[in-house]
Amino acid sequence: MSEEVLDKGRLPRHVAIIMDGNGRWAQKRGLPRIFGHRAGVESLREIVKACIELGIPILTVYAFSTENWKRPQSEVEGLMELLVEYLQKEIGELKAEGVQVRAIGRLQDLPAAARSELAKAVTLTASNQRLILNLALNYGGRAELVDAFKGLALEVQAGRLDITQIDENTISGFLYTSGLPDPDLLIRPAGEMRLSNFLLWQMAYTELWVTDVLWPDFRREHLIAALKDYQGRERRFGGLKSFDGGD
Ligand code: IPE
Ligand code: IPE
Ligand code: MG
Repeated sequence: MSEEVLDKGRLPRHVAIIMDGNGRWAQKRGLPRIFGHRAGVESLREIVKACIELGIPILTVYAFSTENWKRPQSEVEGLMELLVEYLQKEIGELKAEGVQVRAIGRLQDLPAAARSELAKAVTLTASNQRLILNLALNYGGRAELVDAFKGLALEVQAGRLDITQIDENTISGFLYTSGLPDPDLLIRPAGEMRLSNFLLWQMAYTELWVTDVLWPDFRREHLIAALKDYQGRERRFGGLKSFDGGD
């Protein structure tokens, strides 16, 4: 799809992607699932680059869920190794290209090697401004809400927060994504029509775009197709199209 069709003035500020379909991509080729995860890293590289070039300021990618620990130990270990390898290999380029790496999820439960590479990448790129790349790792939307409510309860208990003052912004402020706008567009490759516990609070009004293309086959042209579709949508947020709220 040609990029001329895009209105550069109406790009989403925040794109979220569920990087799904790696296993099926490998199975189709008679390969072990980890080959699909490896191929998926190439898609991530290309999409990060495309976001920078197009001027999308925030990209959040679902890389490992709180439920993915249920998989065979060998796959989980392979994924954790891949994460370390990705960060080690890419950090130079990410830093040079202005990418600010962040991570969301229960990071404390990741293996030590992954935690230390993540901490390095986050520190090294902290002052970058071109693209915020949020890696969702050991992330679960419900776990995030549990953590947020615990944080909130502690503040109330300590007398620093009055219950009557809790509103939606207060809760947003306790999430891992605190300070970031909610995703405008969610892209889900590999065809599943579900959220799989991703950004439950933040996606209240996110536009959803699902494709049968598997993540390892996902390229810049598919991102452009999603953006084009997004730009044709009418976002009403519960209101009416041509009504400004006055009477
Ligand atoms: C997504 O691909 C990657 C992770 C969940 C870590 P899958 O591994 O879920 O691929 P499918 O859904 O089995 O094809
Ligand atoms: C969602 O994919 C998680 C990631 C892509 C990291 P899953 O493959 O785990 O989701 P389900 O099991 O199909 O819902
Ligand atoms: Mg899957």
